[in-house]
Amino acid sequence: DGEVYKYYADGEWRASASGKTVAIVNPTTRQTQYRVQACTQEEVNKVMDAAKVAQKSWARTPLWKRAELLHKAAAILKEHKTPIAESLVKEIAKPAKDAVSEVVRSGDLVSYTAEEGVRILGEGKLLVSDSFPGNERNKYCLSSKVPLGVVLAIPPFNYPVNLAVSKIGPALIAGNSLVLKPPTQGAVAALHMVHCFHLAGFPKGLISCVTGKGSEIGDFLTMHPGVNCISFTGGDTGIAISKKAGMVPLQMELGGKDACIVLEDADLDLVAANIVKGGFSYSGQRCTAVKVVLIMEAVADTVVEKVNAKLAKLKVGPPEDDSDITPVVTESSANFIEGLVMDAKEKGATFCQEYRREGNLIWPLLLDHVRPDMRIAWEEPFGPVLPVIRINSVEEGIHHCNASNFGLQGCVFTRDINKAIMISDAMESGTVQINSAPARGPDHFPFQGLKDSGIGSQGITNSINMMTKVKSTVINLP
Ligand code: G3P
Repeated sequence: DGEVYKYYADGEWRASASGKTVAIVNPTTRQTQYRVQACTQEEVNKVMDAAKVAQKSWARTPLWKRAELLHKAAAILKEHKTPIAESLVKEIAKPAKDAVSEVVRSGDLVSYTAEEGVRILGEGKLLVSDSFPGNERNKYCLSSKVPLGVVLAIPPFNYPVNLAVSKIGPALIAGNSLVLKPPTQGAVAALHMVHCFHLAGFPKGLISCVTGKGSEIGDFLTMHPGVNCISFTGGDTGIAISKKAGMVPLQMELGGKDACIVLEDADLDLVAANIVKGGFSYSGQRCTAVKVVLIMEAVADTVVEKVNAKLAKLKVGPPEDDSDITPVVTESSANFIEGLVMDAKEKGATFCQEYRREGNLIWPLLLDHVRPDMRIAWEEPFGPVLPVIRINSVEEGIHHCNASNFGLQGCVFTRDINKAIMISDAMESGTVQINSAPARGPDHFPFQGLKDSGIGSQGITNSINMMTKVKSTVINLP
């Protein structure tokens, strides 16, 4: 049961010597849809060796040629958007239209990365010594950016293609090789995306994709001595990785509890539209989803009413029908969400809709009058359930936001730009959106989380820079 896919190593598709596979369960049917190889540690070792060898000659390949291959891969990726989107629908229940957008956005991201790489990596720096006290003008320092080596990319299930290429593109343009470990849900879409890079004609061993059980190859990969950089997007596993990883640069995007602060003077229709889009698109399974609404009491009733009217219009059902709300990724995820909902129920939250679940499908739910003693005030449901906390002052909202262990993004709705800037400055989160829901894109914008939300900054430019190191040569005149 379930079509079997091979893993990608040394420019070839291979079956694992383990003879074992890992099942990918369709979140909608809850049946096994696909199977991917359960790679062994020995296979990981081989991939690492090949990546190390391939990187050496790739780093010597002219930058314009590296860019040319990336442009080619981007075009092939876009040509393959339909079958890749079909796997996204079956593996992660992403609504059909959003699945296509993910692939197109990924093609654009790869092209932009190629262009940006050519721009920023084509520049170096020249320093002269006599600006520092005690020196004559007899030393010239030439510095440029060089690759790190082998980059390990671990994307999450919610954007298995886009959050893979956001690591692959920068790594490759900068002259690194790349080992991809896709999430199990989403692995087939990721393998298909890798196939597009294969068709573009990248050298053997430069890109590999290993699949398998985290328990077997997870730590083995992240602690592997052959890895020179880790770029991870996901949940708590990132914290564990950062504790175990060796002396390599880390780029981490972990969870979020993005707050939406609503002031009395806000455009309330705009607020309602953004709460629905921000909180419920892809059924709330985005790190940047609005995960708590902190709203001034005076406008709370109106906004809750407007949001409820919009939620009633959302289409709930299978992703193939382009429903707005689709089944969440796994049964354990649905159970976790239900646990948060039940906790809020016991503690007296107001249910704006009846709680309804069939299998992994959870109907959109707004919980009003949530209080800080409820788990959902702090925890990330990663589902279509959104808490509303009524506040009596802006300070109360900022306090709640900053008391969170997360700090990815946040948003503030007000017509007063001065207040908006002051609130943004006070919010401990990597990005604050004024009058719009949080979002990572456009993909060249910096993207970063504070506290448990991450390490470093992403976005195309920052990722390219992060995957390089400065190398200097000093010319000493007699
Ligand atoms: O959940 C992953 C995060 O990167 C969100 O991206 O584009 O939905 O804001 P986006």
